[in-house]
Amino acid sequence: MAGTNTALLADLKMDFPAELQRHVRRIERGIDVYLPPGDTRPRRLHEAMRYSLQAGGKRLRPVLLLGAAELFGASDDSALPAAIAIECVHTYSLIHDYLPCMDNDDLRRGRPTAHKAFDEATALLAGDALLTQAFALLATNYTANPALAGALCRELADAAGSRRLIGGQMEDLLAEKKSDATKEELEFIHLNKTAAMIEAALVMGGIIGGADNAGIDTLRRTGRHLGLAFQIIDDVLDATADSATLGKTAGKDAKSGKTTYVRLHGLASSRRIAAEHTQAARAALDLLPGKREFLHALIESMAGRSK
Ligand code: IPE
Ligand code: IPE
Ligand code: MG
Ligand code: MG
Ligand code: MG
Repeated sequence: MAGTNTALLADLKMDFPAELQRHVRRIERGIDVYLPPGDTRPRRLHEAMRYSLQAGGKRLRPVLLLGAAELFGASDDSALPAAIAIECVHTYSLIHDYLPCMDNDDLRRGRPTAHKAFDEATALLAGDALLTQAFALLATNYTANPALAGALCRELADAAGSRRLIGGQMEDLLAEKKSDATKEELEFIHLNKTAAMIEAALVMGGIIGGADNAGIDTLRRTGRHLGLAFQIIDDVLDATADSATLGKTAGKDAKSGKTTYVRLHGLASSRRIAAEHTQAARAALDLLPGKREFLHALIESMAGRSK
C-alpha cells in the first residue's frame, strides 16, 4: 500500500510535458552539435541533411532512448550521441520513404520533402549521408568502451538492416496494390518497417544504462508492442486526420493502394488492436525497475496522438 502511494505521488509529481521538452531540447541541441555544420563542403548536401533533420518531428525514438537510459541510471549526456544516431537513421528512412520511387510524398513534418526542397539526387545522397553519420557517431563517441560501441552498432544495424527496417519497407512496396495481401504480411511490414527502430531505441538506451539481459529483453518487448501500436495509429491517422494536423499528406495510403491496418482490419478493429498493444507495452514496462512514470506517460501520449 505504501509502495502504491509512493508510486502515485511520483506520478503526480512528474510533469510530463516539461520532461518531454527537456529531452527534446537536448536532442535539438545534439543534432546541431553532432552533425557537420551546414557550410561544410559540399554545402548543398550538408544543408539538405540539416533541412530534414531540423524540421522538427516528434523525436520519439531519441526520446525513448534517453528515457530508457535514464531509467537505468544514465542521467548524464552519455546517451545523447546514440539518440542522435537513431534519429539520423530514422530521418534517412523518411527521406527515402517520400521519394517518387517509394511513397512519393511532397509534404513532411509540415514542409516540402527533401526531394522537393532540393532535388531527388540530393535527397538520396542526404539520406545516405545520414545513415553513415549514425554509425560514425556510435564509433567515435563510445570509443572509451569498445564493447559498448560494438553493442550499439550491432543493435542499430540489426534494426535498420535488410531483415528489419529495409525488409519491412521492401514488403510494404511489394504489398502495394496487391489485392490479396494477408494479415501475416501486414504484421511483417509493421514489425519491421516501424517496430524494429522503436525496439532498438529502448534497447540502446538500456545498453547505455547498463541493463542486464532480462532488462534488455523486457525493453525489447515493450518497444515491439509500442512500435506495433504506433504504426497501426499511423495507418488510422492517414485515413482519418487532415494534412495540416499531420504535417504530411493525409489519405495517401488509400490513394496509393497500400496494405494497411485500416484496409485489412477496418477502423474500429485497428483502434482496438492498437489499444491492446499499448496496454501490452505498459504491462511490459512495469516489469522494469526504476522510475517508469516518464516512459508510461510517453507511451500513453503516443496512443492518443493526433499526428
Ligand atoms: C513516421 O515516423 C514513419 C513511421 C514509422 C510511421 P514518425 O511519425 O515518428 O515521424 P516524425 O519523426 O514524427 O516526423
Ligand atoms: C514509413 O512508414 C516507415 C519508415 C520510414 C521506415 P509510412 O510510409 O507509413 O510512413 P509515413 O506515413 O509516410 O510517415
Ligand atoms: Mg512507406
Ligand atoms: Mg510513407
Ligand atoms: Mg503512414
